[in-house]
Amino acid sequence: MSNDDILVGLDIGTSKICAVIAEIPETGGIDILGVGVAPSNGLRKGVVINIEATLRSVSAAIERAENMAGREVSHVITGISGAHIEGLNSRGVVAVTSKDREIGMIDVERVMDAAKAVVLPMDRELIHVIPQEFIVDDQRGVKDPIDMIGVRLEAEAHLITGSVTAAQNLLKCVNRAGFKVDEIALDVLVASQAVLSRDEMELGTMLIDIGGGTTDVILYKNGAPLYTNVVPVGGAEVTSDLSIMLQTPMDTMEEIKLTSGCCYAPMLEGDDSEIIIPGVGGRPPIAADRLTLCEYIQPRMTEIFSMVRDKVEHEAHFTRWQNLGGGIVLTGGGALLQGAAELAGDIFSVPVRIGLPHGIGGLTPEFQRPDLASAVGLILHRAKKMISEGVDESRGFETSRKKGTRFESLKKWFKNFIE
Ligand SMILES: Nc1ncnc2c1ncn2[C@@H]1O[C@H](COP(=O)(O)OP(=O)(O)OP(=O)(O)O)[C@@H](O)[C@H]1O
Ligand SMILES: [Mg+2]
Repeated sequence: MSNDDILVGLDIGTSKICAVIAEIPETGGIDILGVGVAPSNGLRKGVVINIEATLRSVSAAIERAENMAGREVSHVITGISGAHIEGLNSRGVVAVTSKDREIGMIDVERVMDAAKAVVLPMDRELIHVIPQEFIVDDQRGVKDPIDMIGVRLEAEAHLITGSVTAAQNLLKCVNRAGFKVDEIALDVLVASQAVLSRDEMELGTMLIDIGGGTTDVILYKNGAPLYTNVVPVGGAEVTSDLSIMLQTPMDTMEEIKLTSGCCYAPMLEGDDSEIIIPGVGGRPPIAADRLTLCEYIQPRMTEIFSMVRDKVEHEAHFTRWQNLGGGIVLTGGGALLQGAAELAGDIFSVPVRIGLPHGIGGLTPEFQRPDLASAVGLILHRAKKMISEGVDESRGFETSRKKGTRFESLKKWFKNFIE
């Protein structure tokens, strides 16, 4: 069957690889057809370190999604993360060229080119260029300068760069698994498109995606990203701490963390439920209570949130947390740890909520999970890009646009839902 009407998000995470197949029906919107998840073994802190192991997990995840969707996948949109990711803010300035001084698309393209003309080391590449605001003759805060009259056009943009080799290794895994990559996009950027509302982005919100190997951060202000960072610590450190402190293998401790873990001691007042931790090497099992586990989990989670806070304060010079009108949103698998929102609330002193992916049809409750935010976000990101660029240059969607209906209905749907 043709692949023209489907989009496939492939989130290659440190803990799990997740493929989501979505359809763009002619009636409008985006519908999830299939989700496939496979354990991930070939990554360390968000970066591929074993091609063979990663490509096996990629194949397994896509095959599961294909079986559920009843469709075959040939192209995917892949997410990227890792401590090599860096966000920076940049500015470009151009003179408006037309005789009547009316700003056209060409001026916007030129000013964005100027904003992204930063000198990058040979081993880094630009992954995203996101306009924050335009300035027309000193008039700040312009979101869309097209058709405005002006002499001088400035653009402020958020640039996201990453390691060339990390992206190449990611590409290699997916290609060797037999799939073509339409685009590589930053995990936390696309996750923000799946879990944050427009209002939250406008008011100012920080999204923290707590994964297995990394904690990814994106801070929005006035509708655009202001700061992006990837901290190389995640839920796996929590499990590792438990495993060391209780001298129990990681797998066993991971299970116990998922069912009984909590990172906020005040929530456990009066909870005297007992956890049996199996003995290793002939040792008898030991009984522990949830508060004991919490005493090991809470310091690590506190450290993760504090690292995020320190980085944002030092690198983005952002200290007025009370100005974050939309507060903090937690997503990724680590957001499922009991007490995560409460602990973050104490550390940042702002309201915190858990962000689940939304905005797509067919996301049944079993798939409305924070650890699927990036995979779903990849689909939303690509669909949005196809609309803003008018066409998918690389393949089938052009055919759809020529047909008209599917493209137009998707455009209308995005206007209602996302904008
Ligand atoms: N119910 C739960 N309670 C506590 N922790 C959980 C729960 N479910 C998942 N996690 C933790 O979330 C982490 C995995 O999250 P996620 O699937 O978002 O990571 P990933 O995308 O594979 O990794 P990364 O983004 O770091 O590359 C693991 O550390 C896991 O222990
Ligand atoms: Mg992830």
